[in-house]
Amino acid sequence: MSQPAPAAALYDYILALHVMAVVVGFGVTFAYPIIFAVGAKRDPRSLPVLHRIEYTVERLLVNPGLLVVLAAGAYLAGKGHHWSEFFVQWGLGAAVVIGAVVGAVMIPTAKKAEQLAERDLAAGGGEMSAEYQAAVKRLTTFGTLLSLLVLVTILFMAVKP
Ligand code: HEM
Repeated sequence: MSQPAPAAALYDYILALHVMAVVVGFGVTFAYPIIFAVGAKRDPRSLPVLHRIEYTVERLLVNPGLLVVLAAGAYLAGKGHHWSEFFVQWGLGAAVVIGAVVGAVMIPTAKKAEQLAERDLAAGGGEMSAEYQAAVKRLTTFGTLLSLLVLVTILFMAVKP
């Protein structure tokens, strides 16, 4: 058995880093539907803080995770001569879409949902407004699309169709 060349070893560590960043950056987002379903059912007073947690996680975990995924992916694509392959171009597109949707839709909508939930709870009555429901629907729709995009991208990265 020959020792792996140093470059090959580094490639493998960067590949591990790439996959770690995927898990750390995107893992928690798959739990959001459960977190919000439990919060809404058990104690709606938790909703403002849950939305704050949601956009804080996006800022501190999802966006930095995405940057590491992108930087490590670019190294792998360069070192492994994969730039012209479909799975890399798909991955680049997915990274751009995820960054854009998180920045332009998810974070601002979660902030708005936090404010609307605070307002509706302060008004009493026990019902959340149609405006709040619309913000939640937007978060659910875009969140589901992002989760599916992450899963399809993992599939393409692993299978390399
Ligand atoms: C949402 C974005 C991404 C996800 C979820 C993702 C996920 C993954 C996963 C799970 C692997 C391991 C597959 C395996 O080794 O079998 C992988 C490998 C890889 N990814 Fe990504 N990736 C993403 C974005 C990118 C980007 C933007 C690039 C390039 C700029 C990239 C380039 C690569 C390369 C070159 C490999 C290594 C292929 C190999 O040596 O087997 N990825 N990715």
